Amino acid sequence: MNKIIFFGGKGGVGKTTCSSSYALYEAKRGLKTLLVSTDPAHSTSDIFEKTINDTVTSIYPNLDAIEISGEKESKKYMDSVRVSLKQIVSPIIVQEINKQIDAASISPGTEEAALFDKMIEIIIEKNDEYDKIIFDTAPTGHTLRLLSLPELLGAWLDSLIQKRSKSVNLMSMALKGQKASEKELEKDEVIKVLKRRYDKVLSAKKIMMDDRQLSFIFVINAEKLPIDETVKAINILEKYNIFVSGIIVNKILPDNMKDEFWLSKKEQEQKYLKIIAKTFKEKRIFTLPLLKEDMKADNLEIIADKFAVKI
Ligand SMILES: Nc1ncnc2c1ncn2[C@@H]1O[C@H](COP(=O)(O)OP(=O)(O)OP(=O)(O)O)[C@@H](O)[C@H]1O
Ligand SMILES: [Mg+2]
Repeated sequence: MNKIIFFGGKGGVGKTTCSSSYALYEAKRGLKTLLVSTDPAHSTSDIFEKTINDTVTSIYPNLDAIEISGEKESKKYMDSVRVSLKQIVSPIIVQEINKQIDAASISPGTEEAALFDKMIEIIIEKNDEYDKIIFDTAPTGHTLRLLSLPELLGAWLDSLIQKRSKSVNLMSMALKGQKASEKELEKDEVIKVLKRRYDKVLSAKKIMMDDRQLSFIFVINAEKLPIDETVKAINILEKYNIFVSGIIVNKILPDNMKDEFWLSKKEQEQKYLKIIAKTFKEKRIFTLPLLKEDMKADNLEIIADKFAVKI
């Protein structure tokens, strides 16, 4: 199994359940594990019945957890931009820039970009400290947009670097009658900041596309809609060269049903399990049972133990 694993899927299929119990399984077998929740709903604290926030907290031997949110990270991020800009622009335009930053913090995409930055930071900075980093993600659409960000951000940062280089060159032409040298361009504070971010995005992209380091597991239920949505999502991720290693079919009904309603449900489940086996024949497929009660800390252990024989 890969070092960094994302659990994704349609709303309510069991992403938080599977990622949390899988993280618990890895921790119980002695691997130092970090569980990261990127879902704004943040159910990991509810499921573990522990307080988890935006700093890494130990919740079980070998298991640490953190819940990150686009909203909080975007605020922190904008504040840091404010501080670094203050150092490079004159006080007269700081006020104007602050206005623009306030407008930017409520513009679409800012929270996602900030959340993505935080994910990159975790993937890069925590890589050596942990044996496994497990991500519990938000429902499919949100996560796909997030994972497609390296492409967009990379191109955008590159164009900003080109634009800034042009204006530094123009300034140099006006002052010295010649273009700025490579060294002068490298020394420019704005280019420095942009290049640092660009390099970070590139390293994240490299890790995300490396199937020995990162993989994606989709959680589904044996029903039509989660299957259809997952087929589309896998196509998109594979276009971005992100490796999808497996499918977990969660909430499998018990075998010993007697009631007519449940017998017919079970029959339908069998039909979908065949479709799942055929549709995802190149992926590893695991099944997890529907438990009598909904998920809480004790039940996580039951599901965690199932992983021991499955994976
Ligand atoms: N195997 C299971 N047996 C019993 N209940 C389950 C099982 N898996 C999940 N549940 C229940 O289903 C509900 C949804 O599970 P969970 O929160 O893990 O899904 P999710 O995909 O993370 O949802 P969201 O899209 O809202 O983040 C919860 O109430 C949980 O307790
Ligand atoms: Mg969830």
